[in-house]
Amino acid sequence: MTNPTETAQWAELTSASTNVPSIRSLLEAPRSELRVTGPGLVADFSRQRLTVSTRDLLLELVASTHVCHQRDAMFAGEAINSTENRSVLHTALRRPVADPLVVNGTNVSADVHQVLGRLSSFSTSIRNGEWTGVTGKSINRVINIGIGGSDLGPAMAYTALKNYADPNISFAFVSNVDPEDMVSALATSDPERTLFIIVSKTFTTTETMMNARLARQWALDSLNVQDPREVVERHFVAVSTNAAEVDAFGIASQNVFGFWDWVGGRYSMESAVGLSTMIAIGPEAFHELLAGSFAMDQHFLTEPPATNIPILMGAMSVWNRDFLGISTTAVLPYAQVLARFPAYLQQLTMESNGKRVRKDGSLVNYNTGAIYWGEPGTNGQHSFYQLLHQGTEIVACDIIVVSRGHTNQTEQHETLVANALAQASVLSVGVTREELAKSSTPVELISHKEMPGDRPVTVLMLETLNPFSLGALIALYEHSVFVQGAIWGINSFDQWGVELGKKVAVGIQSAFEDRNLTADFDSSTRESIKEYLQQRDGD
Ligand code: F6P
Repeated sequence: MTNPTETAQWAELTSASTNVPSIRSLLEAPRSELRVTGPGLVADFSRQRLTVSTRDLLLELVASTHVCHQRDAMFAGEAINSTENRSVLHTALRRPVADPLVVNGTNVSADVHQVLGRLSSFSTSIRNGEWTGVTGKSINRVINIGIGGSDLGPAMAYTALKNYADPNISFAFVSNVDPEDMVSALATSDPERTLFIIVSKTFTTTETMMNARLARQWALDSLNVQDPREVVERHFVAVSTNAAEVDAFGIASQNVFGFWDWVGGRYSMESAVGLSTMIAIGPEAFHELLAGSFAMDQHFLTEPPATNIPILMGAMSVWNRDFLGISTTAVLPYAQVLARFPAYLQQLTMESNGKRVRKDGSLVNYNTGAIYWGEPGTNGQHSFYQLLHQGTEIVACDIIVVSRGHTNQTEQHETLVANALAQASVLSVGVTREELAKSSTPVELISHKEMPGDRPVTVLMLETLNPFSLGALIALYEHSVFVQGAIWGINSFDQWGVELGKKVAVGIQSAFEDRNLTADFDSSTRESIKEYLQQRDGD
């Protein structure tokens, strides 16, 4: 495995980074070679702070770190998730049945399409009212219970595609162990017409299991049917890889939709984890979502590096992170329906590439995953953009523009798009002291109004936000994350860092019960437990 810092390109890129022209000067000539059309979207990298020759150096780094070889290994089903000895095959979820993937003698695609068929029949029966609750009424409310990858993808997709959703069914996504989340979703649900989808790859996640038990109790109490199994049978379905735990919860096997250990939680929204999405938009539109991702997969697999959008996006993210020292990226969708997209991307990017050791366990001697966050435009403009424009921290920005909206308010939509393009320009080009002086800015305000620019911006422009383009956008980010991880030589598909906190929480909860403040707790935790117990009990 190549350490990227030991490649010739790393040294050349380091030297290039000491003398990078400003984005303003780079844009004096058209940079059309940095605007690339792909499935469902156009990616404009012309506002990145790099020359075309630096881009070429980055593509050489991609070659010398064997990114395409690693990509091919992933698509072929090799166990590239080395710490869990698993394949990483979310790309198989969208592969057409006519082009099956066989891994170690198993026809993976046959399994995928068998589950897709069951999901389609089930979703259709909910949508057309054939499936009824225990009292014979059709379903008008779906509550998805899950957390992390079992929540963020489905919640994001539902919001993003709400213009395609069946208006007769309302959806809620409950994730937090804070009981407020579940209780408020139940408050607006009719028990006779509510379907719960319990989504958990492991079916052992504390938050999800507690919320599922709360929902089951609520359904049993409010429906008051003699045989509780009937209530669970008509109102609860599960999406999981853990059949034994699902069975122990009481959900019958015909109501279980499986997936596989080769689908990571944050990469799972196009597996059975997307059941709520399919119920909302229907099987046909769900297949369009898959088609969009598949089209981006093909682009990633076949397009030459200089026009390969995920490769370019991933390589430029490494440039920003390691050579320009930019530690954070704001995701700014100029589309209210993409309101949950930054939260979804936070898990995808930070759980994947928030790693400090390489695949062989050695410490990295370079920076890895950036911090991702964001809010839809134009809202963010009236909130945190001040720091983006004039703060001391340089933030890279991904601006997502949708050319055609779903309302008939075209003028208002144009205001939205104009703002997106204006921000892309101002962030990257800025305004100089000379320009301010020429526009008769009072001299004492010139330094306050100066906009340094040079914030790298990628603009992703989608003609329209539909299932296909959303699928393409999701796959683009998945693959960009992959490219970054492959260059860095880290495992983007495990998440050991999230485990210890869960274990410690169990110990702390026991201490709430038995008040045994053992030496296992650090001194501050011991004091916090005491404080909590006093406040809880009003001592
Ligand atoms: O704790 C992190 C995590 O394991 C995520 O990776 C995952 O998406 C989430 O928890 C939920 O896990 P599960 O689907 O098994 O409930």
